Amino acid sequence: MIEVIPNWHPIFVHFTIALLTIAALLFLISAFSGRNHSAHGIETAASWNLWLGAALTVLTVAAGLQAAGSVTHDDAAHLAMENHKFWALGTAALFLLLALWNVRRVRRGQGVGLVFGLVMLLALAGLTGTGLRGADLVYRHGLGVMALPQVTAEGHDHESGAEHSHAEADSPDGGHAPAAAATPVQMAGSGLSPAESEVVAALTGYHDALTSGELAAPEKFVLADERFTMIEGKHLNQGWADYRDNHLKAELADLAKVRFRLSVLRAHVEGDLATVIFIFNILPKSGPEMDFGSGRATASLVRTGDGWKLQQLHTS
Ligand code: HEM
Repeated sequence: MIEVIPNWHPIFVHFTIALLTIAALLFLISAFSGRNHSAHGIETAASWNLWLGAALTVLTVAAGLQAAGSVTHDDAAHLAMENHKFWALGTAALFLLLALWNVRRVRRGQGVGLVFGLVMLLALAGLTGTGLRGADLVYRHGLGVMALPQVTAEGHDHESGAEHSHAEADSPDGGHAPAAAATPVQMAGSGLSPAESEVVAALTGYHDALTSGELAAPEKFVLADERFTMIEGKHLNQGWADYRDNHLKAELADLAKVRFRLSVLRAHVEGDLATVIFIFNILPKSGPEMDFGSGRATASLVRTGDGWKLQQLHTS
């Protein structure tokens, strides 16, 4: 696969949309042109666009299903994806029906009837709805996207002399900032109090250290004694040494190939105790964005003289 393209779906969708839209428009034109010589040519072109479009839509749907199973996504994106799929399957079924119907119509030498035209319009509306929902997945939810622009406080100016900065506008829209920095970036720092940010930074540091390939690296982010507890599904480790020697050691080489992305759902600080509820995604360190796995987790941290330390982590 070409590195910047997450899967084949974004390639096939353009054939589906272009061919089937042109087919629908040509059928409508031919329906209003009466039965003369030029209308016959338009109808032939419409038929081929419909047949080719329907055939390629089978590939678009297959690639879409494959994409849905491979791109990194959170709960909100999952719902949006299910909605897109629902529209896509209905629309694809309508166009396949129309393609078969059209074979019969051409064989019998029939013209484009009213019912055929109305079903075609319905399918075109479905195609528009499907496409918009697909775009929503990419441009709102960030699915299949490798990186988002990092908006810094300074912003930048265009060399062409256009005088605006991408970070200076008051509203996120006016400043072209991606909404809430969108999902693929770590949510640490967004909407968190300074104390909560510190806690999340410690948790993020721990996850980064896990992927460093060094067994000792995560130690500085945890209570490295008997107070540490790790629950991973049904697996329980009590004490840092137990986790490090009987769990982490075996996974260290695999962890060194990936990175974690944390999406904080809730962070709460009460005195010297903090809890963070978050979603983690496991992604390749380099190459296309791809989900190797994800989970929900709750972490408890305690404030020490040396900063926040992880006391307990429960993942599932
Ligand atoms: C009639 C069939 C379909 C059409 C016309 C269609 C259209 C689109 C469009 C226009 C996009 C945005 C692409 C971009 O901006 O690069 C998209 C993205 C997407 N669609 Fe579809 N889609 C179809 C079927 C499906 C199906 C059946 C699924 C399965 C759930 C699916 C899953 C996705 C996913 C996951 C994305 C995000 C980008 C990616 O990873 O490829 N699509 N779709």
